[in-house]
Amino acid sequence: MKPGLLKYMCCPFCKSDFKALVKRKTGTEIVSSFLVCKKCNKKYPIIKGIPVILDEKKLKDFAKTQKNWENWWKKVRKKSDIDVYDKLWVQALKNLGGEPLFRPEHFKGKIVLDAGCGTGRHIKSDFSKHGCKEIIGVDLGVQVFEAKRTDDAPNTHFIQADLMNLPFKKEVFDVVTSHGVLHHTPNPRATFMRISKHLKVGGMMAIYVYHKEWAYHKAHKKSLFLDTVYATGVMIWLGIRKIISRMPHPIIHGFAYLMALKSTIESTLVKNKITRPLGKALRFIPPFAYVGVNFHERLVRNYDHYSATYNYFQAIEEVIDWYKKAGFNDIEVTSVPISIRGIKKTRIESPLNVKMYELVDHFKFRQEWDRVYAKRRGANE
Ligand SMILES: C[S@@+](CC[C@H](N)C(=O)[O-])C[C@H]1O[C@@H](n2cnc3c(N)ncnc32)[C@H](O)[C@@H]1O
Ligand SMILES: [Zn+2]
Repeated sequence: MKPGLLKYMCCPFCKSDFKALVKRKTGTEIVSSFLVCKKCNKKYPIIKGIPVILDEKKLKDFAKTQKNWENWWKKVRKKSDIDVYDKLWVQALKNLGGEPLFRPEHFKGKIVLDAGCGTGRHIKSDFSKHGCKEIIGVDLGVQVFEAKRTDDAPNTHFIQADLMNLPFKKEVFDVVTSHGVLHHTPNPRATFMRISKHLKVGGMMAIYVYHKEWAYHKAHKKSLFLDTVYATGVMIWLGIRKIISRMPHPIIHGFAYLMALKSTIESTLVKNKITRPLGKALRFIPPFAYVGVNFHERLVRNYDHYSATYNYFQAIEEVIDWYKKAGFNDIEVTSVPISIRGIKKTRIESPLNVKMYELVDHFKFRQEWDRVYAKRRGANE
């Protein structure tokens, strides 16, 4: 831990400052120590340079969530995923002329919190390239250790903590980002409200959460019959998901593998004119399987989906309302639903200024994704 991090931090329980009881130091880095609250004396370890600020009483509740995410990145993902799949998202959006959630100008000279940073994907690929003053990545899981191992720039810090109980002072960050995280917390709205408290007035918060309509498919609104079939399917699907996510890793992995297989069969059938109706019908039968550019991506996405202990879907209006209630205005809904940014104000303002960028269609986005991938593979062969 770099001592500079302390000025943003405080005890999550009594909000007082911490002092560090240093055991081992290398250069400017505190490798091993305890952070002790100056008022209530609560003590938290610094392990391998990372403060671990978790409430002991909640460790049991966190255990399954932490383990599932750890298994996901350690046992399912490959290192090369980051280089391939993430770039596909960015490139496909660019080709379709969509507005990205993060722009370099949002980060230059700013103090940034990445809430739920995982292994630090966005910090490495985006934020650290845009001249931030300081970047702080927080995650509940041990992924933060991997994040620090692979990105230990002097202005980058990592903390292991729960987003509902962050060890930060109020209004200390210029930018707060949270990509693909809030829908995996027990109460996404409450988590949004909590993390927004650490943003300065005038600061920008940018989040990405799952969209109800993408999850609930496009059969949607085409016919009452298809809608009913699909709504029933969704209920069955989410029920199965809930059960699977509570299982041990080998079962989740096996199930994700089956779903990747289902997705492969569906897309093979859909490609052929004669078997297309069969492929489409299969897609309607739950449990639903996530698509991907190759078998591995299908496995990664299905494991991600079926292992998350919490998995919520939101409507765009709902998320705009979170921003409004937290005192934001000048809200921008960018192209991949639901990606929203907004500026924090001193109080709830009206009228609410909402700029809507054109949303990319889920299927077009995936198609472009496939096309970019095929092109990259062609170029590499
Ligand atoms: C899908 S990953 C997204 C990671 C990263 N933002 C990215 O885009 O690569 C979701 C992350 O949320 C973290 N997470 C879930 N619940 C959390 C909580 N209550 N507090 C902090 N992090 C949490 C998980 O540990 C996991 O790393
Ligand atoms: Zn305290």
